[in-house]
Parts: sequence; C-alpha cells; structure tokens
Amino acid sequence: MFLNQLKLYLGIVGVFFCMLFLFVYFKVYINPIGNDDCLLAIGYSDREVEEIQKLHSFSMVKELEHYSYLPFLVELIQSPSYDSQNLFRYVDYILSLEDGYDLEAVIYLVNHNILYPYSQKLADLFQNPYFILARLDRYMGYNADSIDDTIRNVNSNLDYPFYTNIQMADVSKGHLVLVNKYFQLEKGYYYGELVTLNSNYDNKNGSKLSKDAYLAFSQLVDAAEKEGYHIRNNSAYRTFDYQSYLYTNYKNQRGSDWADQWSARAGHSEHQTGLALDVGIKSSYALGQFEYSEEFGWMKDHAHQYGFILRYPKGKEYITGYSYEPWHYRYVGVDVATYIYEHDITFEEYYAYFVLK
Ligand code: DAL
Ligand code: ZN
Repeated sequence: MFLNQLKLYLGIVGVFFCMLFLFVYFKVYINPIGNDDCLLAIGYSDREVEEIQKLHSFSMVKELEHYSYLPFLVELIQSPSYDSQNLFRYVDYILSLEDGYDLEAVIYLVNHNILYPYSQKLADLFQNPYFILARLDRYMGYNADSIDDTIRNVNSNLDYPFYTNIQMADVSKGHLVLVNKYFQLEKGYYYGELVTLNSNYDNKNGSKLSKDAYLAFSQLVDAAEKEGYHIRNNSAYRTFDYQSYLYTNYKNQRGSDWADQWSARAGHSEHQTGLALDVGIKSSYALGQFEYSEEFGWMKDHAHQYGFILRYPKGKEYITGYSYEPWHYRYVGVDVATYIYEHDITFEEYYAYFVLK
C-alpha cells in the first residue's frame, strides 16, 4: 500500500519535472523570444517580433522588455555591420541622441569605440570611400569646404605644412612610389634598373632612366615622331647629390621660396627615382617655352597612353607643392596614367585614394 503511494508520488514528480524541462527547453531554444506577449504589448508588430526572435538570445530579448518600443530596432539588427554583442550600446547611444542620426554611422561609431560625439561630419566621413580610420583625429581637426576635400587633403598630408612630418617614401609601392614634400628617398635609391638613353631620345648625352620608364618613353617619342612631333629628354635621372647641387644653386640665386616652388630638396625629387623626366623639343633646352609648342599639345593628349602623367598641373599647386611644370612627366604605367588623365587628378590624390591603404 505504502509502496504504491510512493510510486504514484514519484510518478507525479517525474511528470512534473519532464514538463518543466520541456517548458524551459521550448522557452530558451525553440522560442527564444520568451514572452512574445511582452514585446507585442510594448508595441512591436508580429513581423518585428519575428525579426527580434532571430537574435537567438533569451537574455537579450528579455533585456529589451525593459525598454519602451524602439522604432529603429529591426533596421538595426538587420544591418550587415550589426554586432549582437553591442546591441545595448547601440540602443543606449541612439536613445541619448536628441536629433536625427544615420544608423550606419552610429553602428560604425559604436563598433569602433569612437569617442567623438555624434555629428553629421562624422557620419559623412564614415561614408566616404577614402576614409581612413587611423586619420580620424586629423579629419576632425581639419576644416575644408567639403568632406571630399577634407579626406583628399588629409590623405595627402596637406593638413601639415610642406616639409614637415617627413616620412621615408614607401618604395614597396614600386613604380607607384610617391615622392614629394612629405616623402623622401634614401640617398642611394632609384627604381629598378637604370639604363642610358639612346641619343635619338635625348637632348643631352648619357642621360639615364629606369628601364620601365625608358621603354615607355622611347615608344612615346617614336609615336610622336611618326606624327611629326620631336620630343626629347632634357633632364631624367638625377642623383641625390646632383639634386642637392641644383636646389642649393636656386636657393642661393633666387631665395628659398623660389627654390621650393620649382625645385625639390635633395631626397625629395622624383628625378631620383628614375621614373620622371623633363621633356622639350629636339635641340631645345628652353623648358619655359615648351608649353607653347605643338609637342606640348601632343603630350597633353597622348602621354597617358604611354604611362606618363603631367605631374605638376596648373591649378593643383596647393596639392603638389610645385608651380605648374608643363615639361615634367612621371611614369606610373598606362592604367594609372589613364585614370589620372581621365579624372583630372594629381598623383597625390590617386595615391591617397588607391595606393595608400
Ligand atoms: N622640379 C621638380 C619639382 C624637381 O625638382 O624634382
Ligand atoms: Zn622635373
């Protein structure tokens, strides 16, 4: 009798625990939302509840019940940049904002622990394809007419005065190495292999260029010749010491402002790479006259087809740091030269957008 009662009692307790297990299992794993009714009561629609369920965390959903209806919640959890670990940081951040905001910008800000208060400038910076997170402080401290200008200028280091914050040029970029007033070359550096120009291409004797640049230049000169234009080298590869001599001469004769406007300081000249040259008409050294020649007209339209760019264009002096030099061309390869030509940008800009990162 007593044994039967005990069996019955144990049976009831067993069934109770089974049901409890099934209930908890269902709540936590099958229906992680927990109490749907709570979310529905807060104001979420059936569809929103369905989306929120996909969070797959009982405790997270439970936590959401402490908030009133969050109209941005579903859009937030559906964003590709959404990180579930940050859910409540996003929510609290958004609730602390008084005015409008860009949801993706908030997600970016929270994901990267950015401490600047939310602003339209920040949101616009994040959306710019050339934005570099490591330069955020510099963008924020820089005022230009537009976000595009801010990014372009900071990526080009123009927030620093010329010849300050100088770094070694990144020669790992090969023939796309950037050499300017912020990037200098080791004394003995030149790109690739230096070769001597055939006299057909040279107004001087024994000038040298890097092999790739020479091959492209010889093809350019040959093509121009066929059309009746006589383009020649006037100054190609220069050693560090020769550049130093040139710059010092200019400085002594005309002062440092003039020298810096027209001539690179030693280590800062593209001529040292062997990838740049000053061109002129056959048997004419007059660089200043080249702009008015038919050869210049031809170079303007065709140089990019051989991989050369007009390196110091008119109107871009504030970016390149040099006065307009219609005679100075830099070899960057056909694709890059064509892009720069078609988009009317400087090598500094191209580098800031496509090479730097
Ligand atoms: N004239 C250019 C800037 C140079 O000296 O390299
Ligand atoms: Zn030059």
